[in-house]
Amino acid sequence: MNVIVVKDRQEGGQRGYQIFKAAYDQGATVYGLATGSTPITTYDALVASDLDFSQMTSVNLDEYVGLAPDHAQSYHYFMQHHLFDQKPFAHSYVPNGLNADAADEMARYDNPIDLQILGLGQNGHIGFNEPGTDPKLGTHKVELTESTIQANARFFDNADEVPRYAYSMGIASIMKSHQILLEAYGEEKADAVKAMIEGPVTPDLPASYLQNHGNVTVILDEGAASKL
Ligand code: GLP
Repeated sequence: MNVIVVKDRQEGGQRGYQIFKAAYDQGATVYGLATGSTPITTYDALVASDLDFSQMTSVNLDEYVGLAPDHAQSYHYFMQHHLFDQKPFAHSYVPNGLNADAADEMARYDNPIDLQILGLGQNGHIGFNEPGTDPKLGTHKVELTESTIQANARFFDNADEVPRYAYSMGIASIMKSHQILLEAYGEEKADAVKAMIEGPVTPDLPASYLQNHGNVTVILDEGAASKL
């Protein structure tokens, strides 16, 4: 893994943008996108840039089951607000959280992705692949862990409103990406970052599988890198 430590998430966003631009210049056409607070500064930098995605495809990692695309906490809404309204893609795939038929919803996933951006859960999850997830799974329906529900409750009025299930690309889908960019900011990610980079490859820490991928860049701020 190529590890880059930056001062803060603003600088991280600029570095993330540079990785997008390099992939773009090399002909990447399918971009795997993530939600959460982490990628926002990279999306801000993409919005401020002159990169044109109008002929490109984006595929999002995950979505809460049960939230409509226009729900303010849906990942669909997040992507519209932070990126797609300003930088439209020709095709943008985000799982439909209202589709109760998981097999049907997942059938159009697992596209080959040129560049996949990832955040990192405090428990080491990527997408919504929680500890214990079978790494051979493609896109699937996930029951969220209590720690993820609590971590994401800050975006809702209270923890009871956080959906209990999500659709998520699997670790196997993520590992098929040609190139991966993972960003993590803040001391609360430091344990997961250390285990991801220095620990054993184990289902207990889903991001550790990235050690088996040949083209991963990790951008950390000083807090997230503090235990390395
Ligand atoms: C959610 C998302 C992940 C994201 C993680 C971290 O659980 N499903 O894709 O990486 O939160 O969120 P944040 O970037 O806000 O710390």
